[in-house]
Amino acid sequence: MEFFIDTADVSAIRKANDMGLVDGVTTNPSLIKKAGRDHEETIREISSFIDGPISVETLSDTYEGMLKEADTYMTWGENIVIKVVMSPEGMKVVKALTTRGIKTNVTVCFSANQALIAAKAGATYISPFVGRLDDISHYGMDLIQEIRTIYDNYGFATKVLVASVRSPIHMLESALIGADVATVPPATLMQLFNHPLTASGIAQFEKDAADWKK
Ligand code: G3P
Repeated sequence: MEFFIDTADVSAIRKANDMGLVDGVTTNPSLIKKAGRDHEETIREISSFIDGPISVETLSDTYEGMLKEADTYMTWGENIVIKVVMSPEGMKVVKALTTRGIKTNVTVCFSANQALIAAKAGATYISPFVGRLDDISHYGMDLIQEIRTIYDNYGFATKVLVASVRSPIHMLESALIGADVATVPPATLMQLFNHPLTASGIAQFEKDAADWKK
């Protein structure tokens, strides 16, 4: 399973990348706002040291407007993926960009039917938001299983990119289901290291080595 990091915080991306844990990056307007920096400057900096796909989200609600934004974003790096919201206009954009060989990531997906539409439009990635489904007492990971089944039934090439990840359990279940990618916030990524037996094991080794460790 590929790990994308879900943030526009460049220092957090660098830290995760130094551990070899970044196969790509996903951003969105909220993450850019949270990072508090110029959009273009941020994406260009990320693209300067990340080789994997970097998702940059369009803001317009028209076909022409999204295509114009895509043309601009593609100049910001060699590995830009155009993020498009799940909408009829968005699917027209996905089809047009796919025809031009530009990768796309369809976002704000909450149903398997939406994922089916995105795959038929030719999306490179589909981003189902599991955490936000959990927030309203739905099993977010059930959606990932549904999409995985449908895509495998028909051999769709669209990659399942689990988004709105909020816990190590989301990461574990994504891998068990066979998601292609999970995009993980930096804090959740660091939680993946944690296990009490690892901590106690390290402490015991350090204690036993104290006598001869210089
Ligand atoms: O990639 C989408 C993600 O950033 C949304 O996460 O926690 O706002 O639902 P969240």
